[in-house]
Amino acid sequence: MIIAIDGPAASGKGTIARRLAQHYGLAHLDTGLLYRATARVLLDSGLRLDDPARAVAAARGLALTDFEEDKLRGAKMGEAASIVAAIPEVRSALLDMQRKFASRPQGAVLDGRDIGTVICPDATAKLFVTASPEVRAQRRALELRSRGERVDYADVLADIRRRDERDAGRSAAPLVAAADAARLDTTDLDVERAIAAAVAIVERAKR
Ligand code: DC
Repeated sequence: MIIAIDGPAASGKGTIARRLAQHYGLAHLDTGLLYRATARVLLDSGLRLDDPARAVAAARGLALTDFEEDKLRGAKMGEAASIVAAIPEVRSALLDMQRKFASRPQGAVLDGRDIGTVICPDATAKLFVTASPEVRAQRRALELRSRGERVDYADVLADIRRRDERDAGRSAAPLVAAADAARLDTTDLDVERAIAAAVAIVERAKR
């Protein structure tokens, strides 16, 4: 069984993906980490984020040691990832890796922006997770503060709106719900309710 989860930044899709993977005993890939790691390799080498040739080389050359989550999770790296993710050649360079992950015999849970539309169009279950920008900014501000970052709510909200615009407005695999995705709005849901709703969607899709 393949579960595809897409949605904008801080919508709750990462938490839902992790919990669904636990619930069904499946492997989980947070595909945002691939774009974050690519951006980080470029920044560490003092290179521009919008240079397609360099960005593709960075994506192709990713190694396990580039995936230290602590270094990839911050606000700066989210913004940088969104810039490299708009380069079509970078997306192509990361496609096979994601499809290979999804094709493991037991299946998998993948979350990102284009899983249901591009990476796994034949997924068993597709969820498009949303929440209002204000609630997403509150959640992201809490998360960043818990990681020791000093952030201002208004800045986080502006960052979220800018990223939404870039991720949804790009021509290559924009953030959009697949026609056959079930929408899950988590604005008024706590984590446990959101997970229960997500499991219900997967159970319906499995039938
Ligand atoms: O989910 P995230 O915040 O870690 O993603 C960081 C950026 O990477 C996001 O703004 C857009 C990009 N991304 C993407 O374009 N496609 C994906 N499947 C996952 C992430």
